[in-house]
Amino acid sequence: MNITVAITGASGAIYPQRFLNHLAAEPGVSRIQLVASAPGLRVLHEELGGAVTLSNVAERLVEDGREKVEVLSNNDVGASIASGSFPVDAMVIIPCSVGTLGAIAHGISRDLIQRAADVMLKERRKLILVIRDTPFSLIHLENMRLLTLAGGTIFPAIPSFYHRPGSIEDAVDQFLFRVMTHLGLKPARAYQWKGSKGGIAARRE
Ligand SMILES: Cc1cc2nc3c(=O)[nH]c(=O)nc-3n(C[C@H](O)[C@H](O)[C@H](O)COP(=O)(O)O)c2cc1C
Repeated sequence: MNITVAITGASGAIYPQRFLNHLAAEPGVSRIQLVASAPGLRVLHEELGGAVTLSNVAERLVEDGREKVEVLSNNDVGASIASGSFPVDAMVIIPCSVGTLGAIAHGISRDLIQRAADVMLKERRKLILVIRDTPFSLIHLENMRLLTLAGGTIFPAIPSFYHRPGSIEDAVDQFLFRVMTHLGLKPARAYQWKGSKGGIAARRE
C-alpha cells in the first residue's frame, strides 16, 4: 500500500508519531508520503520539544523503516499526491484541525494537504480525518457531515477504555489500530472485544 499521512495543527503529536512507526513496520505498506502544515510542525514542537522542521520531521517521528517515508512540503501543490494520476491507496490526516476539516469540506485546496485530500475524494479513494478539538461548534459538525457525504471518514481522536489501557501509549495504540484496520491492515496487537457476561444480564443474577 501507498499511504499519505498528513499532520495538521491540532493537539496530539503522539498520534502521528506512533501511527507512522506502526505503518512503517507493516510489511503491507511500501511507501508513506508525509506532509505537515506549518501549524502542524509548531504543535509537534510544542508537544515533543526541540525544533521540528520539514527537514527533520521524519527523523523526529520515525525510528525504524524511515526509508519508506518521503517528506513533501505543504507549499508544493505540484507534488506527486496533488494529482489523481499518482496512485495513493489511502490518506490519513492525523491529527486533523477543524480548520483543515473546513477547507477540505469546502474544496478550498490552498495547500498540498487540502489538495491531496480533495484528490482522494474526487478519485473516490479512502480519506480518514482524525479530528481533534473540543467542544465542536455547529460549523464543525456541519463540515463533518459534508465531508462524510463526500465519501470521507471522520475518525475523531477518541480512545476507548474497555480494553483497560495501562498507559497513554496503550490507549493511543489501540485507537491507531482501529484506524489501521479501516485501511485494510491487520495490526497484530489490535484488541478485539469478545463479548462479556456483564451488563444487565449479570446484574439480574
Ligand atoms: C499548541 C496548539 C494546539 C492547538 N490545538 C488545536 C486542536 O486541538 N484542534 C484544532 O482544530 N486546532 C488547534 N490549534 C489551532 C490550529 O493549529 C490553527 O487553527 C491552525 O491555523 C490550523 O492550521 P492547519 O489546519 O493548516 O494545520 C492549536 C494550535 C496550537 C498552537
